Amino acid sequence: MPKFVKVCRTSDVPPGERRLVEAHDKPIALFNIDGTFQAINQVCPHRGGPLAEGRLEGNVVACPWHGWTFCVDTGLPDHDGGHSVSAYEVRVEGDDVLIGWLKP
Ligand code: FES
Repeated sequence: MPKFVKVCRTSDVPPGERRLVEAHDKPIALFNIDGTFQAINQVCPHRGGPLAEGRLEGNVVACPWHGWTFCVDTGLPDHDGGHSVSAYEVRVEGDDVLIGWLKP
């Protein structure tokens, strides 16, 4: 399996937007933060809420179901003691957005 897989085109996710994609058999929430793409697991660790549908403020997304918040750069909670989600490497090649393995 290639390390990076194409998931969409850059024009599919304008700045400030997000999209549910799939890579490595995982549902992934892809965000465009002022032209920089970030990817985290789509599934909220609380009760499985869809993070690609959450409210985005800066680089923090709030789960639409109960409001848990995560940094889309790192997948870490934006407050002490919270749960985290997996964050993935993202690469742009030409007009393509590719997702790789988990961020180290
Ligand atoms: S399912 Fe995400 S906060 Fe509850």
